[in-house]
Amino acid sequence: MCGIIGYVGKAEATPILLEGLRRLEYRGYDSSGVAILSDSASGEGSDIQTRKRSGRLDNLRTLLTENPAAGHCGISHTRWATHGEATDENAHPHLDQSGKLAMVHNGVIENYQVLKDHLEEEGHIFHSQTDSEVLAHLVGNAYEASTEKDQRRRLVEAVREALHLVSGTYGIVAMHEDSPGFLVGARFGSPLVVGLGKGEKFLASDVGAIVSHTTDAIYLRDRDLVWLTEDDFAIENVDGDAAEYEVSTVDFTPEQAEKGDYPHYMLKEIFEQPTSIQNAFRGRLVDDQASAILGGLGLTPRELRDVDRIVLCGCGTASHAAMVGEYLIEHLARIPTEVEIASEFRYRNPPLDKNTLVFVLSQSGETIDTLAAMREGQRKGHRVLGIVNSVGSTIARESDGGSYLYSGPEIGVAATKSFTSQVTLLTLLAILLGRMRHLSVDAGQQMLKELRDLPAKVGKILSQSEHIRQIALKYLDAKGMLFLGRQFNYPTALEGALKMKEISYIFASGHAAAELKHGIIALVSEETPSVFIMPKDSVYEKNVSTLEEVKARKGPVIAVTTEGSTELERIADDVIYIPPVSEMLSPILSVIPLQLLSYHFSVALGCDVDKPRNLAKSVTVE
Ligand code: M6R
Repeated sequence: MCGIIGYVGKAEATPILLEGLRRLEYRGYDSSGVAILSDSASGEGSDIQTRKRSGRLDNLRTLLTENPAAGHCGISHTRWATHGEATDENAHPHLDQSGKLAMVHNGVIENYQVLKDHLEEEGHIFHSQTDSEVLAHLVGNAYEASTEKDQRRRLVEAVREALHLVSGTYGIVAMHEDSPGFLVGARFGSPLVVGLGKGEKFLASDVGAIVSHTTDAIYLRDRDLVWLTEDDFAIENVDGDAAEYEVSTVDFTPEQAEKGDYPHYMLKEIFEQPTSIQNAFRGRLVDDQASAILGGLGLTPRELRDVDRIVLCGCGTASHAAMVGEYLIEHLARIPTEVEIASEFRYRNPPLDKNTLVFVLSQSGETIDTLAAMREGQRKGHRVLGIVNSVGSTIARESDGGSYLYSGPEIGVAATKSFTSQVTLLTLLAILLGRMRHLSVDAGQQMLKELRDLPAKVGKILSQSEHIRQIALKYLDAKGMLFLGRQFNYPTALEGALKMKEISYIFASGHAAAELKHGIIALVSEETPSVFIMPKDSVYEKNVSTLEEVKARKGPVIAVTTEGSTELERIADDVIYIPPVSEMLSPILSVIPLQLLSYHFSVALGCDVDKPRNLAKSVTVE
């Protein structure tokens, strides 16, 4: 949450920082700011010029047009508020007591109040309600108290000293008027990446912010501390020891992280699914064995054979994909599988046996609860594998193996292509484990064929976008919505409801369809449409009965069903067809009309599709 970019080099810093913030805005968008270190004219020192504005990035752009800030070194931030409302004062960067040090911070300083009280007793004056300003003051305090003559070293040591006083999480970048052209960064729990350009360096919370300048990146580890000048850098840890690092090449182009001709990232990402699904299974289908290969798991066939229980862990959309995975693995491999919401798992101290295999699923690879769940599993001595999209992310690096989705950057806050890719990968896992147990060659081959057919079928559903938009327009006055599905499409119902809530602000809830009579039916009314996800599968007839019960109570019904089920047109108010597909893979198709439905609702209601209120793309604070 929150986006950071810092720059030091030969170019004017402000345009680079604004462009970086534009690319990072999906991480938080309630206020933003920059601090620029002016170049020192001969005989004079540098000045820090700070510009901050609440609201969207355009507000900051306007401010910088009216009141520019020039210099070749600067730091900037786009905020998702934790402590203190979204005001100009609470926006980052924050200054220390002397006004000579500026800092941006992601994360939460948990003991900030005690530290703030102490600093106030010493005479410090704070201008914001944030925990981050306290950290800036702590660094400034350590800097002022230091006897170190080398001003750069003094700043590095001051940052280190201050970080030893705080508990919580941080990704920070700091600069000081005494050290022009010099940035210091550190991370613990909040991602930070160094960008190595020619004669310029970057520090950012996300590689997407710098990919248009350089593809050479160093993903910092927890407790790393880095300093940068335009030509040099060094990475130590917060205890002062040298740290190991690796220079990686960024695996996507700046164009991939742009909207292109689409009005919104979400729509672009929905339409990318024929390709992203293909990328998830490309090179992983083994025809002559009617199986799949997931080399990154790093497990021998014997180890895979010994697995007798699987735990799938994630948050939000990733947890819904995991639920589909639970059905798939139990069905194809007959291995007991459980889904754990990561935030519960991390504190629940669940018993894990020797042969339990734990997976964490995360698009961003940075979700704090999923990361903590992974570490909890590892602490218990378990091998925890990751199913992750973002290459180089913390989960990707710290997990004990796993598989990438290869979906390309997902920027819309509402997760779309990551869901279908996660389900695709879990299908491969289920086939792999199934073929080691009872799954026949024929059944394995059938699954591979079904997977290969998916991209064309997804394309066919996408061509109905306008039809789905017309349906959305009929229900814009809905007071709430129900999403109902059974078996493999129970998780799809949860996912459809989540999409509707987060981008349209319409209260929606997803349920196992048979649960309707156990209470939920009380919500059915003419103003509460129900979306039935009911492909022609083994529970289709049961779903028809439930649908009839809703219609008998005057509830409008939108049915997502399989081509050919035209009988539904007589009972449902609206019908959306998906191509025939195996029941097990149907969520990959049936979710797409739900993504489009929520998208068109959101646009028609005038909501900000890609930046829904109160949300941010990756949840890196608790
Ligand atoms: O990056 P992750 O997959 O770990 O993110 C998990 C959730 O925060 C995410 O899926 C969230 O629920 C989305 N906004 C849903 O659209």
